[in-house]
Amino acid sequence: MAQPHQGAGLHPFNGGGVHCVVIVFLLLALPLQTSYVVGQLSQSKKLYIVYLGERQHDDADLVTASHHDMLTSILGSKDETLKSIVYSYRHVFSGFSARLTQSQAREIAGLSGVLRVTENQIYKTQTTRSWDFLGLGYSNTNELLAEANSNNYGEDIIIGVIDTGITPESASFDDSGYGPPPSRWKGICQVGPSFGANSCNRKIIGARWYADDIENSTFAKEILSPRDTGGHGTHTASTAGGNIVHNVSFRGIAAGTARGGAPRARLAIYKACWSEHCSNAGMLKAMDDAVHDGVDVLSLSISGPDEDPGTLHVVANGISVVYSAGNDGPTAQTVKNSSPWLLTVAATTMDRSFPVVITLGNKEKFVAQAFVFSEEIASQFSEIQSYTANDCKADHINSTVKGKIVFCFPPTFSPSAQLNTGRFFAAVVANGGRGFIWPLYNTDSFLGDYLAASTTSLVPVDYEIAYRIEQYISNDDNPKAKISLTRTTVGSEVPAPRVAAFSSRGPSSIYPGVLKPDIAAPGVSVLAAAPATASFQGIPYHFLSGTSMSCPHVTGIVAVLKSIHPQWSPAALKSAIMTTTRTLDNNWMPIQANGYVPKIADPFDYGAGFVNPTKAADPGLIYDISASDYLKFFNCMGGLGPRDNCTTAKGGSLTDLNLPSIAIPNLRAFQSAVRTVTNVGKLDDAVYTAFLEPPAGVEMAVEPPVLVFSKDRKVQSFKVTFKTTRKVQGDYTFGSLAWHDGGSHWVRIPIAVRIVIQDIVYSKIS
Ligand SMILES: *[C@@H]1O[C@H](CO)[C@@H](O)[C@H](O)[C@H]1NC(C)=O
Ligand SMILES: *[C@@H]1O[C@H](CO)[C@@H](O)[C@H](O)[C@H]1NC(C)=O
Ligand SMILES: *[C@@H]1O[C@H](CO)[C@@H](O)[C@H](O)[C@H]1NC(C)=O
Ligand SMILES: *[C@@H]1O[C@H](CO)[C@@H](O)[C@H](O)[C@H]1NC(C)=O
Repeated sequence: MAQPHQGAGLHPFNGGGVHCVVIVFLLLALPLQTSYVVGQLSQSKKLYIVYLGERQHDDADLVTASHHDMLTSILGSKDETLKSIVYSYRHVFSGFSARLTQSQAREIAGLSGVLRVTENQIYKTQTTRSWDFLGLGYSNTNELLAEANSNNYGEDIIIGVIDTGITPESASFDDSGYGPPPSRWKGICQVGPSFGANSCNRKIIGARWYADDIENSTFAKEILSPRDTGGHGTHTASTAGGNIVHNVSFRGIAAGTARGGAPRARLAIYKACWSEHCSNAGMLKAMDDAVHDGVDVLSLSISGPDEDPGTLHVVANGISVVYSAGNDGPTAQTVKNSSPWLLTVAATTMDRSFPVVITLGNKEKFVAQAFVFSEEIASQFSEIQSYTANDCKADHINSTVKGKIVFCFPPTFSPSAQLNTGRFFAAVVANGGRGFIWPLYNTDSFLGDYLAASTTSLVPVDYEIAYRIEQYISNDDNPKAKISLTRTTVGSEVPAPRVAAFSSRGPSSIYPGVLKPDIAAPGVSVLAAAPATASFQGIPYHFLSGTSMSCPHVTGIVAVLKSIHPQWSPAALKSAIMTTTRTLDNNWMPIQANGYVPKIADPFDYGAGFVNPTKAADPGLIYDISASDYLKFFNCMGGLGPRDNCTTAKGGSLTDLNLPSIAIPNLRAFQSAVRTVTNVGKLDDAVYTAFLEPPAGVEMAVEPPVLVFSKDRKVQSFKVTFKTTRKVQGDYTFGSLAWHDGGSHWVRIPIAVRIVIQDIVYSKIS
């Protein structure tokens, strides 16, 4: 899903972006006098975020008072200040957002103590709707979850979800059997329409909403309270921390148990997204409140800012931040949220599928994946009305499709063609079509909102099948077909997981020296809680797909790990998750990545691999990182503080950040990276040996090749060296380094290296 405001990001105010606005405005306002237009522009106010860095006071009220003083010094009066200020960020870091003219923003940017002033940005939630593969099927988590349940682990963990709100009546959020909220909880239950004080309970222990920064037009279909109308927030919250609810299904399909990754965790809801639009100013206030309130892990299924000091402060407070990687794959360099302190989550399929059989009038049969609920299409042949090439357009559909199966065979396939297909399908539904068959280059990414349309069946097919249907239609005077009702199949006959085609890919365009995404988790056809509104037809569990859905799986796993290892830092939790992944599928073959053509997945598709929570609970070694190291990285990469002591090559590899991955975007002849591991295994005495899988064209060595841990030597450093064996400019190649203790621990990190002969200049986004 494209985000409406691309790239402007957070960077020091320099007027560059604003000049563009002036030009656009002049063009739009051509008939008006130039002086009038310019005059009006400088008066028009926009929302700006003013970032001041670390708090100067422990007392939050003093922090806010300092914001008021600063604004008053520019605006002239306290009255104007109170009218202008939208949010004061005062718990985690110091800053505020305010409605200002361009010249006022520029004046504030010049004040001492102001680190950056940026215009507010709107981000989008990261969902596509899909109905191919499904399941809550990361079944290898069961052991850990069973253990977590039996010990009530996770019950004292508080998961913060910044999203579109919550549906408190869902069985996923029932609080039977829960004790009072943990005593450190300091949050509130902010009431509003359709959300009373009793909408919070011992499961949903807090809820807030952030509307001050959002255009009123965005509220047209919204409720000004934590109540979720669109369903995204309900779905993600129940995936991260929803109760175990047995016997759920969608119209009998995918029947089974729905549950969150940490089913006993408590939920704190921060509604900062309205109609799936999330304003950065509101997201920052939600983060500020979440840290104050006492959450342990924060989940954001949003295409957030590319570089953001807000999340850095959250992580520096010991709180893990889990973000979705984005839905802009399979194109390279589309990964979002690639700061090294975040856990950035890619999406995969699961090992369930929903086959249907398409039978043509000539008895030819094809198998496809679809949700077909209508007896009408299954029990009798229906006439096919076909549209090909440029006829596959929504405005070509009219009432002649009523009761027929519509077949569309457009000439090209791309994500944008799929969006058009969504509109086409809407037209088929509106005109009473019985079904819609069309080819999709990959059937796990379909954009549309039509799953609930139970009377019109939607059947995406492979290209080859579409081609054969096309052949049949062109050779038959009365083409017709029927489509069987959906079956649910589970197991290894469906190779899984596979990286979803829509899942955004690395490398990071902002930080090529940081390997992203970090990890992959299920995100295709996830069944989770839905609002009890008409648009969900009163069906309480609903399918959604996207990295929005994979993100909360990892959030839930972080919550469970945190309950087992309360002392672990966000970096340690992330390391445990990344070093214990699976890279083989359920048929013991390398995990594949879907795309224009399927291929074996590499770290730019799935980071370290497919998440394996059971192993993550006992990783053996961890790669830890302190908050000050993250801050240093941020400053060295052009952040906000002093840049002395930077060993980070400009735009190049990071040798000074102890990440559980290594990315070298510009290997010339030789480069090394130092890493440090801490033994967290049950035994103090452990001997780990290095196992290397060098990237193609690269010679790799580790010194020392054996690490000996003891009671007094829990922490050990080692150096990895990379030497080119080829003198050709190349694409990225991939490898890994694993430390093995001779027992159950394999501590594996992914490696991505690109050999360059000539300089590749990476510029920061601007
Ligand atoms: C937006 O809505 C708020 C609250 O309903 C109202 O106070 C404000 O005047 C509205 N602003 C505009 C520009 O309509
Ligand atoms: C599951 O739900 C279906 C219908 O919703 C019902 O017929 C069935 O008895 C339920 N099964 C269990 C084990 O509760
Ligand atoms: C409806 O669509 C069909 C097929 O594209 C076309 O032949 C017909 O002329 C259209 N009818 C009207 C009334 O537009
Ligand atoms: C740089 O290193 C010096 C000496 O180790 C240290 O005193 C100083 O605080 C460091 N500066 C930063 C920004 O880390």
